Amino acid sequence: MNILGIETSCDETAAAVVRDGRDVLANVVFSQVDLHRPYGGVVPEVASRSHVTSLPDVIREAIERSGLGWQDIDAVAVTYGPGLASSLLVGLSSAKALAMRLGKPLIGINHLQAHIHSLFIGRDSPDPREVCPFIALVVSGGHTCLVRVEAPGRYVLLGQTMDDAAGEAFDKGANMLGLGYPGGPAIDRVARSGRADYVKFPRGRQLKDTARVGGLDVELCCSFSGLKTSLLYYLRDHPLSGERSEVPSIAASYQEAIVDTLVDRCRSAMRGERCLAAVGGVSLNGRLRTKLGDYAKSAGFRFLLAEPQYCADNAAMVAGLAGTGQGVSGPDVMSLDVDPNLDVA
Ligand code: KG4
Ligand code: ZN
Repeated sequence: MNILGIETSCDETAAAVVRDGRDVLANVVFSQVDLHRPYGGVVPEVASRSHVTSLPDVIREAIERSGLGWQDIDAVAVTYGPGLASSLLVGLSSAKALAMRLGKPLIGINHLQAHIHSLFIGRDSPDPREVCPFIALVVSGGHTCLVRVEAPGRYVLLGQTMDDAAGEAFDKGANMLGLGYPGGPAIDRVARSGRADYVKFPRGRQLKDTARVGGLDVELCCSFSGLKTSLLYYLRDHPLSGERSEVPSIAASYQEAIVDTLVDRCRSAMRGERCLAAVGGVSLNGRLRTKLGDYAKSAGFRFLLAEPQYCADNAAMVAGLAGTGQGVSGPDVMSLDVDPNLDVA
């Protein structure tokens, strides 16, 4: 089964060809990061326009690199949510047109489930049936949640951020520190030469008096907007000097607060569990990887990460998940609409 995957939920225009859910024949990602850099964040209108102009070439390149012909493609898989509505629309309508033209089935894929599937693509990746049940920390620019994957295709949302995603906290923090966009990699880099105990930023737990919020256990939910405000106030009270020698330590302290919050929520989720995984763009963060890895080692459970090229947004995870039989398909799939607020389960 050769599946062409298409991903346009945010600011990466991506296409991939994956065989049997795991064997990646081609994985093409066109990043729009240079287009959004002047604005310090993703501008939805700019993103969708760029998807329109780039997607045909990105798809063509994926087919070429796969070494297959159009006739070898057995299905077209596409992300239909969650994400930016106008960006999702470009991918979904292109995928519908392609599937119709090729006379092949269309498969609608949930972006969060695809991030989780990124653990299972590539030659050396484990078999999901052997890993389940496990806890997945999904951390990206748009999402932060904890999911229990009970069996392939069976997801339970345990907790999520009440406001900003972890990646957003990195991006906005980096912006305030003058480190540019995207902020996650920039903070990760400069923090290596800083002291993480330089500023004591809050690791606030949300809604202390409430046990459950929106049906979710508050112990498994998080919030990053207070942390962002703390950085703003810190910088107001301690303006950066011309030399900016304090930036690495402020960045390291800020990063440590985000990472500590995520590790703490994972600890709460891991009671009675055997395996933890981290997926999404923020799972590339060096400090998060170290701290989660150390915790897993000391607690004696398995810790999984996706291969680096499958952590941030890509279409291999989309085609891969579709190859396992998951996703929306069937006679009504051509009337599938984008769902910007789609939940993981
Ligand atoms: O998964 P992704 O590509 O897109 C979404 O689905 O949102 O994640 C992008 C996010 C951005 O916020 C970026 O700053 C963050 O991942 N990121 C990182 C690192 N690399 C990317 N955050 C922290 N440390 C990194 N090394
Ligand atoms: Zn994503």
